[in-house]
Amino acid sequence: MEKIQSAIAKARASRQAPRNLSDPAAKLTRVTPPAVQEAWDGIEAVTLNPRELQRNRVFTLNACDQSTSFDMLRTRMLRQMRAEGWRRVAVTSPDQGCGKSTITANLALSLARQADLRTLVIDLDLRLPALARVLGIANPPQFSEALAGDAAPEERLRRVGDNLCLALNGAAVRGSAELLQRAEVAHVLDRIERALAPSVTLFDMPPMLRGDDTLAFLDKVDCAMLVVEAEVTPVADVDRCEQELGQNTNVLGVVLNKLRHTESGSYGYGYGS
Ligand SMILES: Nc1ncnc2c1ncn2[C@@H]1O[C@H](COP(=O)(O)OP(=O)(O)O)[C@@H](O)[C@H]1O
Ligand SMILES: [Mg+2]
Repeated sequence: MEKIQSAIAKARASRQAPRNLSDPAAKLTRVTPPAVQEAWDGIEAVTLNPRELQRNRVFTLNACDQSTSFDMLRTRMLRQMRAEGWRRVAVTSPDQGCGKSTITANLALSLARQADLRTLVIDLDLRLPALARVLGIANPPQFSEALAGDAAPEERLRRVGDNLCLALNGAAVRGSAELLQRAEVAHVLDRIERALAPSVTLFDMPPMLRGDDTLAFLDKVDCAMLVVEAEVTPVADVDRCEQELGQNTNVLGVVLNKLRHTESGSYGYGYGS
């Protein structure tokens, strides 16, 4: 554990230098250089099916009552990220099934409704990739092969509209923890970031208590959001994960998902840090 943590601290320190932006807010605003526009135009577009999204509890394609809680979460997240100059967010949870992929998908479409932002979303829960299914995209190109250096990244991406880019996986990956720790992964992500200049990148991560994939990846993000399942995730697990996240990155907040009783009605997404 000591080793992982010192490696993470070292990698973060070396990465932070160029990311220390003099005017972080300016970098989150969309000014599209021609090369970036060309890179986005070159990505194969997909169309999302609104009914399929609804079925999977993704409500943010258009503004509506059910999108409000996610839009508020998005806005709070953006405000904090702008203030700090953060652009990469890991979405993780103590265990499986807390709602990481559902929340990532909702945040992605909510962010995409902000025309002045470019959003990149990457499914890194390689043991249980689910983002493509949640978004209703059948047979997505396997992005993990690009991470491994076996395919050109731009061929493994899909675009929704003109400002949301998706890196998805249709099949689980063996040795996912080792893959995520390979040096090439950082290079591939940097290359995609340079080409597409996303304002925000969301990473749908594996659960923290099922392996070391997430912990080992935290040096590559600026901050993390912890999704916990109301009345299911043990408090001790929340504490442990929040503490581990706090030691290795900036904690953006804890999202309390699947609340049964909320002021607004059926869905509750508490948020606090
Ligand atoms: N707020 C919610 N209320 C009810 N069910 C939810 C909610 N959020 C997610 N779910 C459901 O819980 C299951 C697990 O969600 P998922 O996003 O796949 O979790 P994870 O990515 O953390 O494993 C899915 O069936 C999803 O539709
Ligand atoms: Mg998931």
